[in-house]
Amino acid sequence: MSKTKEIPRALRETADLIDAGRPIIYIHTPEEERVALLLRQATDLLFDSPPPLYSWTETEGLVTADGSSVVGAAAGPRGALDFVVNHEGPALFHFHDLHRAMQESEEVVRRLRDIYARCVDTGRFLIISSPVAYVPDELTRDLVLIELPLPDFDELKEFTQREAASLAASGVVLDTDESTLNQIGRALQGLTLNESRHALRRAAANNPKLGLESMPYLLEEKHLLVKKKTGVIEYIANPGKLDEIGGAPVLKKWLLERRKLFEMGDQLSREIVPKGILLMGVSGCGKSLAVKAIGTCFSLPLYRIDMIEIFSGRHGNPEGTFVAACKTMEEMAPAVLWFDEIEMGITSKSDADSSGTLGRIFAFFLTWMQEKARGLFVAATANRIDLLPAEMIRKGRFDEVFFADLPNEDERMEICRIHLQKRGFDPAPLEVDRLRQFTKGWTGAEIEQCVVGAITTAKLAERTLVADDLLNQTGKIVPLSQTMREQVEHIRSWALDRAIRTAPRSRGVA
Ligand SMILES: Nc1ncnc2c1ncn2[C@@H]1O[C@H](COP(=O)(O)OP(=O)(O)OP(=O)(O)O)[C@@H](O)[C@H]1O
Ligand SMILES: [Mg+2]
Repeated sequence: MSKTKEIPRALRETADLIDAGRPIIYIHTPEEERVALLLRQATDLLFDSPPPLYSWTETEGLVTADGSSVVGAAAGPRGALDFVVNHEGPALFHFHDLHRAMQESEEVVRRLRDIYARCVDTGRFLIISSPVAYVPDELTRDLVLIELPLPDFDELKEFTQREAASLAASGVVLDTDESTLNQIGRALQGLTLNESRHALRRAAANNPKLGLESMPYLLEEKHLLVKKKTGVIEYIANPGKLDEIGGAPVLKKWLLERRKLFEMGDQLSREIVPKGILLMGVSGCGKSLAVKAIGTCFSLPLYRIDMIEIFSGRHGNPEGTFVAACKTMEEMAPAVLWFDEIEMGITSKSDADSSGTLGRIFAFFLTWMQEKARGLFVAATANRIDLLPAEMIRKGRFDEVFFADLPNEDERMEICRIHLQKRGFDPAPLEVDRLRQFTKGWTGAEIEQCVVGAITTAKLAERTLVADDLLNQTGKIVPLSQTMREQVEHIRSWALDRAIRTAPRSRGVA
């Protein structure tokens, strides 16, 4: 069967709920239009001759599918609910935003209980959609509350086709090639239908031919919206490549092997799907650099969740923000998700955690890591690894725990060459090997600083860079492994027993 013909998840879930015969269904979502469409599609799917579908709003009252009024707005929610109770024969009643009446009126709550008793097994269904989830105690057993998931890939593809058809009159043409549609569907993942509509219209305004040329507009819109909505998920553009990392052959080999698994796409079984890595190590040894290269290596978009933002309180309670961000990311799989300085959010040892928020975030994260959507690869980085609880490091959560140690002699020279080349200098005449003994215990960041310092000196003296500039710089840099010897040693000895080095141990390690 072609991918486009698959039943979207939200439709399947809606149809299942109706099929299960629950007379009152409360759908928590701001997307009421989408609920109306899902109800129409679900009845088409379930019944040979679909029952009538009514819709109620406080301003319009109860109307039929073609808009004719059956109970005026003046009768209020109570009048419309009376109609439901007395309706003969199967029907679906979609009530928009009934939460307010449920909060304010005991009569409405009572009437809902009547509806449960009178509608069960009669083919009549009351569907409440609301951006607010409110269930009075009296009704907890009578209604089923569900969160409407974001539209999945199949729903987005279907939506794109409908949207393009509705814009056809204004000259919009959709490239219906399957692989193009797939790419558009992927680009819109993580957005609601309304947001997808904005993104598609924005792309169409720039170029009425919706197709591969639209991708930059769709992606840009998506990245802006995701950032605005969650406040904590950031898309990383131009993230970097594996060959910009000096050394780390073990990590590189591991990633290149996993790339093959991602290329298998849907054939991948749950057991072998790559889940993610935890990358710990000394500050400045290329953890962030390595994560940035993973997206490029797997040909997946890279997103970063900012733990500091989550705990800033600017986006509501940290726990809720964290959970919502993780869920949003699941809707955007396949992707690489980077948690930078994860110990910020995961450590359960902090004194500040009197409310237990960190503990709960940690518990959620551990379960989520095992259950999250396939194709979402988590790359977490940590400095204060000793703060991470043992459960976090245990096998099964992450595929591998890597340790980015201080680079060995050969790695240091490679890093130096990479940074010279990156800035347009040929390393050969600069006798990089002369730096070997003078850079013992240095991090990658310190080597980069040495290169930058040498280039600056040469520039200021208005001459070309020479080997001695690099050598002179080495005297000016005091490495972290000296200034913070104890802390660096603590991290190294702690990690070397618990994680795989990104490079094999060899001579020249500080
Ligand atoms: N192995 C390396 N190869 C090339 N450059 C490196 C390497 N390690 C570090 N660098 C350089 O040092 C800079 C700092 O590295 P990076 O930010 O990745 O370190 P980090 O381990 O994430 O540090 P922190 O813990 O402070 O966040 C990088 O931008 C990069 O230019
Ligand atoms: Mg970093």
